[in-house]
Amino acid sequence: MLPLIVGNWKMNTDLCQGDALVLKLRELLKGADSAEVVIAPPFTSIHHLYHLLADSPIKLAGQNIHWEKNGAYTGEISGEMLASVGCKYVIIGHSERRQYFGETDETVNKKVFATLRHSLKPIVCVGESLQEREGRKTLKKIKTQVTQALAGLGSAVKDLTIAYEPVWAIGTGKTASPQQAEEVHNSIRELLFELFDAESAKEVRIIYGGSVKADNIDELMAEPNIDGALVGGASLKAEDFARIVKFQPR
Ligand code: 13P
Repeated sequence: MLPLIVGNWKMNTDLCQGDALVLKLRELLKGADSAEVVIAPPFTSIHHLYHLLADSPIKLAGQNIHWEKNGAYTGEISGEMLASVGCKYVIIGHSERRQYFGETDETVNKKVFATLRHSLKPIVCVGESLQEREGRKTLKKIKTQVTQALAGLGSAVKDLTIAYEPVWAIGTGKTASPQQAEEVHNSIRELLFELFDAESAKEVRIIYGGSVKADNIDELMAEPNIDGALVGGASLKAEDFARIVKFQPR
């Protein structure tokens, strides 16, 4: 499968800054075909960037979605809206949303279904806290999150990506070692084979996020079960993100 590199811009960039970043990226990534590239800008920039990316393979993602089609949900965004401005992917259940906005495994599950209903592809984030890692509860936590997020899916799981993002590695400069990440990715792959038919389970991409940088991507991508990366801070610098996209496993 083609690796997937996703830039999660979070709540950064106004219209002009997003414009400048994408123009640079478009140039730097010309001809780069060793990964599928997706960026998740703030909602306010998506439509504008869609036009800028018309002749580029870079795809767009939403950073959130509501599970209802439309209605009285002030401040929310629906799958129909995201699809109508050119999104192909949606990030769901990011730990920042779980921590600050009350996202739960149950709402993540509803959002996964809403995403697929609109022919969008979900990128479901899971990850343990530092306390859970130190208490040796990492694999148990990930198993619960993945099982509940994907409950009831069946073969539709093949269009889904799981992003393993240890909470202690996000924005801290502390990356999980390739071995730590691989252990979790491998356990997620095994769980997928338990929960779903083999044909679908093997299609699911499992990507890593948490302080991914230009200088650590190569060793992460050398692991057999790391199928790409979800990049925060480094995706805001065109040169750094382009180098990440052009990773060379070693
Ligand atoms: P950083 O790359 O800034 O650690 O963020 C990771 C992340 O949360 C991506 O979704």
